[in-house]
Amino acid sequence: MEWSGSSPELLLVVDRTSGRPLRAQLEHGVRDGIRMGRLQVGERLPSSRELARTLGLSRGLVQECYAQLQAEGYLVTHPGSATRVAAGSAIPPASARPSGAAPRLVADFRWGVPDLGAFLLQDWLWATREAARARAVVATPAHQWPTGVALALQPRLALLDWVRDRDAIVIEDDYDAEFRYDREPVGALQGLAPDRVIFLGTISKSLAPALRIGWMLCPPDLAEPLTEQKHLSDRRTPTLDQLALARLIESGRFDRHLRRMRAGYAARHATLLAAHRGSTCSQRASASGTARRTGGGGALGSC
Ligand SMILES: Cc1ncc(COP(=O)(O)O)c(C=O)c1O
Repeated sequence: MEWSGSSPELLLVVDRTSGRPLRAQLEHGVRDGIRMGRLQVGERLPSSRELARTLGLSRGLVQECYAQLQAEGYLVTHPGSATRVAAGSAIPPASARPSGAAPRLVADFRWGVPDLGAFLLQDWLWATREAARARAVVATPAHQWPTGVALALQPRLALLDWVRDRDAIVIEDDYDAEFRYDREPVGALQGLAPDRVIFLGTISKSLAPALRIGWMLCPPDLAEPLTEQKHLSDRRTPTLDQLALARLIESGRFDRHLRRMRAGYAARHATLLAAHRGSTCSQRASASGTARRTGGGGALGSC
């Protein structure tokens, strides 16, 4: 069904004096037209340019309206073709309803369920683009995962120069600082540039991730906004768990646990390395044997 001479846009009233946002008015008009059956399933809507011109609106606003109604399932657009009314989007007329069938709901009053039809799609896309422009680098200088290497001094200084040049910050993720088996603990990057580095520590590795306790060192001007964001994101860490951790540390039990875990993990580390060396040696030995049998050279190296 094509957009007919009955010009459905005439049914769309945009009242600039009402104080209601124009986009909301337009969305409401189209949504209502579809629900009430004035716009039929499959019917072609005018192009965004055309409708914008007719109603004296910007084309972007009409496009946003179409995108929103598409997200809500009222409209469909296929690449290269017009926007049309989607199947199943109209409320069946009362007379057409099979007797005894539940009436179709036009509003949802269930508690705790947001009105996803009102989702601020365009603002969300904007915010995502803004967030992607944030000038922050996440680094694990003490123990890169998965290779395990530590960042040496020169690359550390280069990283700090890089962030200074861009007026950026480093988020130093020091997630397992307590456990080192093959080297002395390295200093934190944060110590080299407290004004440029946000340092994050956690007890996820030393105690348990489920406790959700960590700590942060940050430039003073970021302390308040970050605390606010933390509050918004998880309503803060339970006080009882924080106090329990403090008691564990003060009593020396945390230290004792760390020493025991270090020894245990170091033993596992050594076992794993020995097994790996063994398997590498036997692979080399067999490769060398093959080489000897075929007349080539071979060496077992340090195995
Ligand atoms: C690279 C890295 N950073 C941080 C963490 C700790 O995250 P959280 O403290 O949120 O448990 C982990 C835990 O596995 C990790 O692998």
